Amino acid sequence: MFSFYMPTKILAGENVVHENPEHLILGRKAFIVTGKRSGYASGALQDVCDTLLENRVDFVIYDRIENNPDVDSVYAAGRQAFSCGADFIIAIGGGSPLDAAKAAAVYATNDISPMDIYKDNFAHKPLPIAAIPTTAGTGSEVTPYSILTLHSAGTKRSFTCEDCFPKTAFLDGRYTLELPLQTARNTAVDAMCHCIEGYLTNRASHSSDYVALEGLRIIGRCIPRLISGKFNTDMCLDMLWASTLGGITISQTSTTIVHSMGYQLTYCRNIPHGMANGLLLGAFLDWCWETAAHRIEACLHALGMNSIEELKSALHSLLPFSESVSSDEIEDWLKVSMTAKNVNTPPRKVTIDDERSIYQKSLL
Ligand SMILES: [Fe+2]
Repeated sequence: MFSFYMPTKILAGENVVHENPEHLILGRKAFIVTGKRSGYASGALQDVCDTLLENRVDFVIYDRIENNPDVDSVYAAGRQAFSCGADFIIAIGGGSPLDAAKAAAVYATNDISPMDIYKDNFAHKPLPIAAIPTTAGTGSEVTPYSILTLHSAGTKRSFTCEDCFPKTAFLDGRYTLELPLQTARNTAVDAMCHCIEGYLTNRASHSSDYVALEGLRIIGRCIPRLISGKFNTDMCLDMLWASTLGGITISQTSTTIVHSMGYQLTYCRNIPHGMANGLLLGAFLDWCWETAAHRIEACLHALGMNSIEELKSALHSLLPFSESVSSDEIEDWLKVSMTAKNVNTPPRKVTIDDERSIYQKSLL
């Protein structure tokens, strides 16, 4: 028995924003949520503004979303969306702006305290969202999740709201073509982790498996170009589609301890999200092998690989990491990572010794 719910309309291809205004314009006044860089550098913000101006739709640009935004900053964005009278949101960027937009959409229609976002239950529906990813990794354009930095917990924490699924997602390979190489690699590894983790959770189903493996097939074909750094718009659209497939996968399954453990690397060491996950993935798969060997082999086969060691080698090429980590730091991280919701989703029961071992094998 399984269910499959994916309410986001996906539009993909070159110039897809400009050619589909009826799916971008979800109301009378847009609140555009983006960061300081990605919306401008990708050309996506310009395409959005041109399309809104041509269709005489009023808009406000909110370009103050930082990397790994905290709850208070997205609360400020949401209250500004409310005070300016916006009735829909256009989210442009990587995971940070897209996740921030979902929280802002909730705060714009609900007069709640910042921390009430974690109640996952709101009196009023959030503003509708059109999402435009400018990295190929987050998959946030097709999930109901928003992952925010929560300083009081010393980590990142997600909230889930089915009404936060974006109404529409626009995938244009031009928007990721000029990404810094390491950002493209980090985000691609995040997409890979979404597919693999989703496939290995105890919530996986026939439908999510189908999506996850297709995502891994595409990522496997893109890995040589991710290593060489030779991109073109076709490859970028392929990776965007793979990222969206990863998002669809985890929208059904959630992620695993790779993500909840990785959040500590991001919060405490500022290691980018995808890189943090990728550093932990190999040791996680070794740990899962005993109970999920055939499932891991299916993932490797989809990637075009024969062993976990081959995957580790590819990850090593994609993710340069030379920082030193101490055992004391790992003990601190374990206190937080063991409280995460994801701790319940791997294919075998996880203990604090398991997580300690994964951290140690990955980082020491
Ligand atoms: Fe992720």
